[in-house]
Amino acid sequence: MRQFLSVHDVDDVQALVAEAREHKAAPFAFEDLGRRRTMGLVFFNASLRTRLSTQRAAQNLGMQVIVLNTGQDAWQLEFSDGTVMDGGSAEHIREAAGVLGEYCDIIGVRAFPSLKDRTADEREEVIGNIVRFSGRPVVSLESATRHPLQSLADCMTIEELRTVPRPKVVLTWAPHPRALPQAVPNSFVEWMRKSDVDLVVTHPEGYELPPRFMEDTPVEYDQAAAFAGAHFVYAKNWSSYERYGDILRSDAEWMVTAEKMAATDSGKFMHCLPVRRNVVVDDAVLDSPSSVVLQQAGNRIWSTQAVLKRMLEAL
Ligand code: CP
Repeated sequence: MRQFLSVHDVDDVQALVAEAREHKAAPFAFEDLGRRRTMGLVFFNASLRTRLSTQRAAQNLGMQVIVLNTGQDAWQLEFSDGTVMDGGSAEHIREAAGVLGEYCDIIGVRAFPSLKDRTADEREEVIGNIVRFSGRPVVSLESATRHPLQSLADCMTIEELRTVPRPKVVLTWAPHPRALPQAVPNSFVEWMRKSDVDLVVTHPEGYELPPRFMEDTPVEYDQAAAFAGAHFVYAKNWSSYERYGDILRSDAEWMVTAEKMAATDSGKFMHCLPVRRNVVVDDAVLDSPSSVVLQQAGNRIWSTQAVLKRMLEAL
């Protein structure tokens, strides 16, 4: 595997999930594979899970890991070509990415969208330039439009917990006080569409996800109807795609509650974390046995390990 930017970089999702489960069963089976290899993690935005799980995954494969937090530790970067750099930016992405390529065998990048300019966000300028100018394999640690490592861990968690051959999986919008990207739901839809599940997306009107991710995925505007008989409920907030980056509503009507979960078929509650308690989901759900959010977060290690193993083998 030369890069991991979306589900389109994976030929067989089920095989990759199976490999992730093998890593979970035997974390150090390939501890020499990454010996004398270096993974660089570049964060343009905050992270807990992605940062630590990727470090763990790389270390389990014997790699050394170096981390750059661009906000605090690095020079302000310029992305436009032909610019006279007499303003705040001290370094161009062409040199910065090239230098990362000198230091790292594999590069992970987290770069969120602006949520102001949809066309610019969809160009994926940050991660795209690092792919272009580093000359190294690149792993998305969440880009402007996708979070594939999260989605792979989500697939793995559903695979571990499924009780029926083809579970009903509901992706539900939930309220949040801040405007959040569409990356997690976009990606979740993309990966679920390659999985053996019946996916339903539920959200208030105005929160439609981009058609290129949704394709013919069913949308149910009645959250209660969507929850009926669900085996998995995946909650996530996202800002409007149509009125790009806007918050159209933030009332508690769409919060996931124990009463709503009672309509599911012993449904498991999923969320990528971090989650705002009693805004996105109430304590009664999050603290109940139906919540699998910690298992999901734990699986970030093994799913990332499966990806990095394939990338190391392709070096
Ligand atoms: N789920 C997730 O990506 O968490 P972090 O933002 O903490 O990395």
